[in-house]
Amino acid sequence: MMITGHTKTLAILADPVTHVRTPQALNARFAAESVDAVLVPLEVPPAALEFILKGLAGARNFAGAVVTVPHKTAVPALCDALSARAAAAQSVNVIRRKADGSLYGDILDGEGFTRGLEQVDVTLSGKRVFLAGAGGAASAIAFALSERGIKALTIANRSIDKAEALITRLAAHFPDVEFAAATNPAGHDIAINGTSLGLKPEDGLPFDPDALDLGTLVAEVIMQPVITPLLRAAEARGLTIHPGHHMLEAQLTEMLRFLTHEEEEK
Ligand SMILES: NC(=O)c1ccc[n+]([C@@H]2O[C@H](COP(=O)([O-])OP(=O)(O)OC[C@H]3O[C@@H](n4cnc5c(N)ncnc54)[C@H](OP(=O)(O)O)[C@@H]3O)[C@@H](O)[C@H]2O)c1
Repeated sequence: MMITGHTKTLAILADPVTHVRTPQALNARFAAESVDAVLVPLEVPPAALEFILKGLAGARNFAGAVVTVPHKTAVPALCDALSARAAAAQSVNVIRRKADGSLYGDILDGEGFTRGLEQVDVTLSGKRVFLAGAGGAASAIAFALSERGIKALTIANRSIDKAEALITRLAAHFPDVEFAAATNPAGHDIAINGTSLGLKPEDGLPFDPDALDLGTLVAEVIMQPVITPLLRAAEARGLTIHPGHHMLEAQLTEMLRFLTHEEEEK
């Protein structure tokens, strides 16, 4: 599609930016769906983030941005308003510039993750879920799972204080979900790695797959490698696995909707 003076300009803010795959994925979707928008990569050092974001907000055809490593936790303080889930996760991965120049932040990691499960016919309502991690992605996943009406959520994180603080924020929104900070993954229908463990070959496992009940579904946020050591071990036990690419693919659709203003603010 030709870029013209009418084209909505979007950016991805990252540092480094060379490894990101969102520009090619989203620009291909814009072309396929005849959306007059373009997403360009911007390598933004942390020290320049505020200056660049405030500057972009001053441009009337700047429609918004995708935010990734290392800016996801710094951006909430730079937005004028946040979705409830971004406030609960204390993390933002998409920004929309509103007509008055203000910036609205949201996080779509949780929606992408839960839709990725639903697309392979996994029902979440009533389930007991174990989640490793309490960072940005895991917090957003915890929020989205709770919105889907799960029965119980056990959160295990290296820094226990972060798991406990997340549970306090979630409990204020979802009084019917049983939350616990604990490390034993036994007794759950679904067990999720929401940490960055598994990206590097030397990483340990986020939880012990041998402790899971037979019948537990094991899901990942890590996309590369596709089959992480956790998924390999789960498969060896005969458990069903769900790799991280489902989350990314589902999230692209959510990003397209959000960045082109087709979604209501929550
Ligand atoms: N598939 C997708 O579409 C998708 C989307 C977003 C993110 N992701 C993946 O999700 C992962 C997490 O992203 P994020 O934004 O949530 O990062 P983050 O906010 O930095 O959180 C990292 C999490 O991993 C834990 N962790 C890191 N190193 C650890 C270690 N050595 N031992 C134990 N726990 C460790 C952290 O524990 P502490 O709190 O104790 O530090 C925290 O819970 C990334 O690897 C990213 O690739 C995937």
